[in-house]
Amino acid sequence: MNMREVLMMGKISDMPKAETDRLFESYKVHALHLCEDPDALVESIKDRVTVIATNGVLGASAEFMSNLPNLQAIVSFGAGMDNIDLAYAKTKCIQVSNTPGVLDDDVANMAMALLLGISRKIVEADRYVRRGDWVAKGKMGLQKGIRNKKVGILGLGGIGRDLAKKLVAFGCDIAYHNRRVNPNVPYRYYPSLLDMSRDCDYLIVICPATAETKNMVNREVIDALGPEGTLINIARGTIVDEEALVSALLDGRLGAFASDVFANEPHVPEALFEMSNVILIPHLGSATEGTRKAMGELMLRNLERFFAKEPLETPVAL
Ligand code: 8YV
Repeated sequence: MNMREVLMMGKISDMPKAETDRLFESYKVHALHLCEDPDALVESIKDRVTVIATNGVLGASAEFMSNLPNLQAIVSFGAGMDNIDLAYAKTKCIQVSNTPGVLDDDVANMAMALLLGISRKIVEADRYVRRGDWVAKGKMGLQKGIRNKKVGILGLGGIGRDLAKKLVAFGCDIAYHNRRVNPNVPYRYYPSLLDMSRDCDYLIVICPATAETKNMVNREVIDALGPEGTLINIARGTIVDEEALVSALLDGRLGAFASDVFANEPHVPEALFEMSNVILIPHLGSATEGTRKAMGELMLRNLERFFAKEPLETPVAL
């Protein structure tokens, strides 16, 4: 009998129950988080493993993959592939798929929520009412509108392009920084992130986390954004130098910060907790019922196609 076996790197906690159940019902899943001795499990099945199920955080390192001589594919839940060694996969002709596209709308919506939330001081205003400050001190001061404000997008992939369309509807002036100019979009391209940050009111980070983008939003970039500028991150915490960020906020060198992601999740620099010009969200960008379901289904379709020897639906270009 053709045993369709899948090695699961750990608990994919963001995958909805229905799709997780389907995974376990449809395949013989060897889940590292559900066994007593993961090393012994891998040792006992290593010659049979042809496919790994994972996510960007659990990943799949070169060292791990090198123990699996018959590995042919990695199917990942989520868009980010931070800890999957794509270079190694390429050298071994291991196919990789992720779940792009289906989460663009909701992640871009989270960016809009943070942009509106931080500019209109939604969280701060809510606290103002609850503390009784409205009664004690009267109305809050004026807020900033986003119409005609310059928004710089760092990373113009699927989510970045979706976000740009939404920003157009809000009357923002859009610029972007990417490795390459995109001739198909009408937005202003900056070859230099520093130059873009100098010209922007808001910088929104939505590029992949790679060795090249680690700490890309550094002290210089943050200072270029300046005391009137706002940094919004919906990509990965590691792209922002958190130490530089905290010190800029403490010194008043950066105006405000709103983020869905942090370098060492679920830990967030505690210095941020006391700041009223900051919004902190526990990585919820794609966390709507519909989007997470679509991500789970897409991952399962990739798995199905792999076993059917068909091209993966959303292969990662290696
Ligand atoms: C998920 C994400 O929460 O897709 C991504 O890269 O960050 C999120 O959508 C998570 O990483 C998947 O487990």
